[in-house]
Amino acid sequence: MAWSSSPASAPRNQGLVIPDDWPGYKLDLFTFPHHYSEDLECVFIPHGIITDRTERLAKNIMNDIGDNYITVLCVLKGGYKFCADLVEHIKNLSRNSDKFISMRVDFVKVKSYCNDQSMEEIQIIGGEELSKLTGKNVLIVEDIVGTGRTMRSLLSHIEKFKPKMLKVVSLLVKRTQEGHGYRPDYAGFEIPNIFVVGYALDYNEYFRDLNHICIISEKAKAKYKV
Ligand code: HPA
Ligand code: MG
Repeated sequence: MAWSSSPASAPRNQGLVIPDDWPGYKLDLFTFPHHYSEDLECVFIPHGIITDRTERLAKNIMNDIGDNYITVLCVLKGGYKFCADLVEHIKNLSRNSDKFISMRVDFVKVKSYCNDQSMEEIQIIGGEELSKLTGKNVLIVEDIVGTGRTMRSLLSHIEKFKPKMLKVVSLLVKRTQEGHGYRPDYAGFEIPNIFVVGYALDYNEYFRDLNHICIISEKAKAKYKV
């Protein structure tokens, strides 16, 4: 077994739970790009907390890996920041331990949202490279799991290439009513069923350059609508 699963008595995949009534932090407590000053409602998860939680996820993943090599599959575009930071943490933790992890990073692009709504059709782009995943220990790195529909399609697509092991880490998991019961193996935060942006999560390609995870105003949704 290359990758042990968490014991049932200590479920790891819920993440840090943010309750439905969490108001977020007032904007003037933090800095953010000036061009978004009219668009944000609150800072929902500050960048520093994302960093610290990511470090812990890296540690959990390190502890579970039986083999010394993994192929990290970053789901673009939203996963790029989380993936870069997670890989960096795994690298640093592995440098300071006697278990050196060798990592290869690959990318797949998935589009499933337009405005703040999920689309009927999920597009998997750049999937022709996925044959390289055959026989590998694969860690899919995703920014957010909502209903689980996108992740289920991606998983069934990747499983065709017969990786040795396939695990999923998602920075965020939404508590959705219409959820397909899908849970990633590792989750950073469980959040209410709201639309969030920042830390590479976008609204029609805007807000990826925001470090914190934030809530945007209805006015901003109208302003950047396509
Ligand atoms: N924000 C950005 N992208 C998303 C979200 C979200 O809340 N949910 C699914 N894709
Ligand atoms: Mg994503």
